[in-house]
Amino acid sequence: MTTETDIKIIKAQTSKLKNVNIENVPFGKYFTDHMLEADYENGEWKNVVIKPYQSLTFDPSMASLHYGQAIFEGIKAYKDPNGNPFIFRPIDNFKRFNVSAERMQMPTVPEEIFMDGMHKLIALDKDWIPAMQDHSLYIRPFMFSTDHLIGVRPSDTYKFMIILSPTGPYYNVPMKIYVEEKYTRAAPGGVGFSKNAGNYGGSMYATALARKHGYDQVLWTDAFEHKTLQEVGTMNVFFIIGNTAVTPSLEDGTILAGVTRDSAITILKEMGLNIEERKITVDELMEAHKSGNLKEVFGTGTAATISLIKELKYKDYTMQFNIDEWKVSKELKNRIDNIRYGKVADDYGWMYKV
Ligand code: COI
Repeated sequence: MTTETDIKIIKAQTSKLKNVNIENVPFGKYFTDHMLEADYENGEWKNVVIKPYQSLTFDPSMASLHYGQAIFEGIKAYKDPNGNPFIFRPIDNFKRFNVSAERMQMPTVPEEIFMDGMHKLIALDKDWIPAMQDHSLYIRPFMFSTDHLIGVRPSDTYKFMIILSPTGPYYNVPMKIYVEEKYTRAAPGGVGFSKNAGNYGGSMYATALARKHGYDQVLWTDAFEHKTLQEVGTMNVFFIIGNTAVTPSLEDGTILAGVTRDSAITILKEMGLNIEERKITVDELMEAHKSGNLKEVFGTGTAATISLIKELKYKDYTMQFNIDEWKVSKELKNRIDNIRYGKVADDYGWMYKV
């Protein structure tokens, strides 16, 4: 088993930081000075190294390129008002990463590599964490199969990596969402709950069609009737109906168990709302809209944090909202931000000190 001391560190000779305005960059385009890399071979993890950010070389037959054994996570690091770096709930992402690994028939990554590696990497590149509100350092752990073989079977070898990217808000403006009535993201028994690369590739066609019609993302529905709501784009979804926050439940294994989703549930309870994690259909949503009970709609995600949804379209029915009047989602975002940026006490033990 690899221990903390087994992580080798090779420092970059120079920093690229002076060339990047980290508080004004598009999501996922710029990367910090270092990255973590580890190899899985002969049933064990080895060669754990933090080194200057650089390209990889690979054989064209590398298995992940062909059969998609590839998973990832999204986590964020913030600075408190004194400039101290913290990571938001990384242990939860670590656990979810290994749930994805098992579902994709990949090896799990030990905590010593995932957590200690991330800790050391962030400590090295902490100057890349933006201090500005709505900005953070996005942490992208990922793993992919590396066998040079195009036979269809689980790979014997894998690479685990962590890269870091300074980022601002993912969705800048309130969103218009198309409720999907034809295409499917996930079905029970499938891989919808895992954060594997194919879930995102598979969603792009329907999303592109929605974009052509002026919508930003799709709200996915069940595979059989296209009625039961799942998740929206890269986010979990919440509906404020009366004084209740309703969010799709996880039991079908068709949606991602979001860490921000879980944080939102905790904070919404603290704010005095009733929480219902359950199945909800588009018909119920339209009824709630017609009766004036559907108050607010928003998405939650690591990249997106809390993103307001100003319009939902299902067939020929459009639900439009006046987001200026909304209180719950804005209060929720404030409360979560205050914890993330270290402005209030971290009562839930969510912030991991670097
Ligand atoms: C995240 O919120 O970390 C995501 O997974 C979204 C990402 C695909 C941009």
